[in-house]
Amino acid sequence: MIETDVLIIGSGIGGLSTAIKIAEARPDLSITVLTKTIEGESNTRYAQGGVAAVWDVEVDSYSKHKEDTLDAGDGLCDENIVDIVVSEGPDRVQDIIDWGARFDKKKDASEYDLAREGGHSEKRILHYKDLTGWEMQRAVMAKTDEFPNITIYEHYFAIDLITQHHLGHSVTRLKQDIQCYGSYALNKKNNVIETILARVTVVATGGAGQVYRATTNPVIASGDGIAMAYRAKGWTENMEFVQFHPTSLYHPGGDNPVFLVSEAVRGFGGILKTKEGEEFMQKYDERKSLAPRDIVARAIDNEMKIRGEDCMYLDCRHLNHEDFVAHFPTIYDKCKSIGIDPMKDMIPVAPACHYMCGGIKVDDLGQTSIQRMYAVGECTSTGLHGANRLASNSLLEAMVFAHRIAADVLPKIDQWSIQKGIPDWNAGGTTDPKEMVLITQSIKELKEIMSSYVGIVRSNVRLKRALDRLELLYHETEEIYNTTTISPQLCELRNLITIAYLITRSARLRKESRGLHYTTDYPEKAGFLQANVI
Ligand code: FAD
Ligand code: SIN
Repeated sequence: MIETDVLIIGSGIGGLSTAIKIAEARPDLSITVLTKTIEGESNTRYAQGGVAAVWDVEVDSYSKHKEDTLDAGDGLCDENIVDIVVSEGPDRVQDIIDWGARFDKKKDASEYDLAREGGHSEKRILHYKDLTGWEMQRAVMAKTDEFPNITIYEHYFAIDLITQHHLGHSVTRLKQDIQCYGSYALNKKNNVIETILARVTVVATGGAGQVYRATTNPVIASGDGIAMAYRAKGWTENMEFVQFHPTSLYHPGGDNPVFLVSEAVRGFGGILKTKEGEEFMQKYDERKSLAPRDIVARAIDNEMKIRGEDCMYLDCRHLNHEDFVAHFPTIYDKCKSIGIDPMKDMIPVAPACHYMCGGIKVDDLGQTSIQRMYAVGECTSTGLHGANRLASNSLLEAMVFAHRIAADVLPKIDQWSIQKGIPDWNAGGTTDPKEMVLITQSIKELKEIMSSYVGIVRSNVRLKRALDRLELLYHETEEIYNTTTISPQLCELRNLITIAYLITRSARLRKESRGLHYTTDYPEKAGFLQANVI
């Protein structure tokens, strides 16, 4: 058993920023960070484009960033949260610069080289080549190392949150009197499930892109935190809003994850075209290749369907070779590695699942519907993104909420104590899972179901079929879970089924098309605004 003042599950930008903020204010508190593989493996590490913040105040303003965020969010953003993130964002970016993060500067090194992405009316994206996330992850890890009161436990897989339920009390989703006492976690090095008790728990487990066949998200992105919160009877919100990035590198043969071709490439002048080299985005939006993501992804999906083709193309051949390589060295190298020279060939691209706009419902301080439990980063629904996230707003959101969580936890933590009497993990099954194929095959089936029926374009019939298939997978998986020993793969399968269910159920509840949710049965927006809380 581990006892700690603060338990943080996840070591991406959300988890480590929260750890740093609490550690620097209170060196006397013990802070435990769990991460299911190594500290540096996260969605954060793969972020390419950058972090959006109002930086050049001569031309940009909070109201412009706010308008762009609201416009992308298609009526479902919480304006108060947008104000908070946009206005506090620059200070949080300054924090990470102070912690050592480097962002590219202009050639004369006088100012930051701000980029533009889809949906942004001004250049406001700070970036480090096309490796911004790698640089930010590096900076928060280095800063974390300065605090002796932060302990990182690698290869610890959080299985479930601990609540009164584990003391034998019944808890219901409707009541808001649930308390979180920590988490059970599988120590992957010795296969022992440990009890980790904390005065306060912060879930920072990132996204769930692995629920789809083609995703830009690394394999760690299986929605564990959202699924754990749902099982603990916490509230989730807006799960139907799954963002598909319009331009992942189309490379038949199926890499998992698929490689992202950053939206910043379009901001830099790349143009979407057909195989014949004709532009098509003017048919869909006057902003053409730089329209918000939902519009571009649907346009590409539609063109692929009407032409019966597997991809569209991004034309960069007219761009300056030297500048392109300087800005996008990773993208350039990746294309070259599969025989595509972006300066001579058009880059084949197709949409891929990229970001969960919904998640664990939190308030403006990152507090969930469960007491003594906070959540930060992509696993949350803060109200910032509404029905569609504006590019490069998520790293910003994570940093702003990390700061706010620390500010809320610090004056309260001394009132909370470690809960006594929590039993050890009650192992359900004890037999070894001899047939791993049952788990791996179910994961494949799940991805097929979600990609075929709950993708960019949905309908009542497709959603019903998905729910029917998911129910079967759910029962089969619970049977395995209750009879065999627990493995990370089995837990991930269970969590992905929960995520798939929440996405599909929320999609069924939304009888309209809005933002990222498009259904052929209700192609228009409804006259009322509704957030789906489950
Ligand atoms: P992550 O960074 O994903 O961290 C999650 C952590 O939780 C990991 O350490 C993981 O191991 C841990 N974890 C998960 N489950 C468990 C468990 N059961 N037990 C223990 N630990 C667990 N956003 C932008 O703003 N700008 C961009 O340019 C940008 N580009 C992107 C490019 C790509 C290819 C991708 C995939 C995403 C991009 N995003 C971008 C989105 C952004 O990177 C993420 O939303 C953000 O980094 C999420 O941070 P996080 O801290 O919430 O989660
Ligand atoms: C990208 O670089 O296109 C990704 C940006 C984002 O997801 O915010």
